[in-house]
Amino acid sequence: MVFDLNKKKSDVRVAVLMGGMSGEREVSIETGKAISSALADLGYSVTDVDVGFDLPLVLERIKPDAAFIALHGRGGEDGTVQGMLEIMRIPYTGCGVLASAMTIDKIVTKQLIDYCGIPVIDGLNAKSGDDISLIKRSVDKELSYPVIVKPACEGSSLGVTRVEEEQGLGDALEAVFNIDNRAVIEKFIDGRQLTVGVLGDIPIVLPVLEIKTSKLFYDYQAKYETGFTEYEVPADIEEGVARKAQEISLDSFHVLNCEGVARIDLMLEKETGDLFVLEVNTIPGMTASSLLPKAAAAEGISFPELVELILRGAKTKTHLTG
Ligand SMILES: Nc1ncnc2c1ncn2[C@@H]1O[C@H](COP(=O)(O)OP(=O)(O)O)[C@@H](O)[C@H]1O
Ligand SMILES: [Mg+2]
Repeated sequence: MVFDLNKKKSDVRVAVLMGGMSGEREVSIETGKAISSALADLGYSVTDVDVGFDLPLVLERIKPDAAFIALHGRGGEDGTVQGMLEIMRIPYTGCGVLASAMTIDKIVTKQLIDYCGIPVIDGLNAKSGDDISLIKRSVDKELSYPVIVKPACEGSSLGVTRVEEEQGLGDALEAVFNIDNRAVIEKFIDGRQLTVGVLGDIPIVLPVLEIKTSKLFYDYQAKYETGFTEYEVPADIEEGVARKAQEISLDSFHVLNCEGVARIDLMLEKETGDLFVLEVNTIPGMTASSLLPKAAAAEGISFPELVELILRGAKTKTHLTG
């Protein structure tokens, strides 16, 4: 089922799904509100939905023409809500069940894109209950400090720690295991951080945006408080490097079966000039100050145009019969 492009906007009922139960609830509400007010200004008939366990009942009542998913993290960006919308036959924005489920998981994402020849950062995986002394030994053997320790399935840099030496590894893993049961331990890449948005079915690859933070890495504070980070788009990098970053991002989008929208985070290593994919976000932040809208603006796409473009791609993606 697709979104009906011919209907009058005021007759199109859009449910904007926001909030939810993940650690990124607050950020999701901001994203959702920005989307919902843009859609209302455009003339759509919009209902804000704070997602809880009663979501199917709420949607049954609203009977929306499309659901705009503004949820971040688990229980929204991970294929669960997408699966529910497939069963309810409600067209929805962005990636389908498989792409969402794969990209929420940094371990699966890395394994798949690495298999397809896309460069990823050297690292190890650990799970809750693993013997910490064995993990330390593996890190000693295969990586060198500093390392980044992060949860497999989180966002907004929640639970991410830069570990300077072996001593700090235990605490960093504990911080991860408080919110997830698997951890990624990666070589810390000293370099520039880039992000690339990919939009639509064609798809459109947006200009590369550089994130310049005064913090050790782009942590929660650097992401959401003012004064710690500056953004440059298009990034002041060589044309060949920008093209390569866009190519790698588009390849990742396709390999992971993404649809509608995704934002790919990359690192450009200072010493070698090598590019690596950090992760793929299928529901990027969409407040007026978020990264994807900034990159879209550099391409001449305004915030309302961006929101409408994503909405108009809404569809169910699984061929269910009966
Ligand atoms: N291997 C790494 N080397 C350097 N910085 C990293 C590495 N992994 C993560 N980071 C930093 O941590 C931030 C969050 O990591 P990321 O993998 O993008 O997860 P999240 O889903 O929380 O955004 C990144 O934006 C980057 O600044
Ligand atoms: Mg990220």
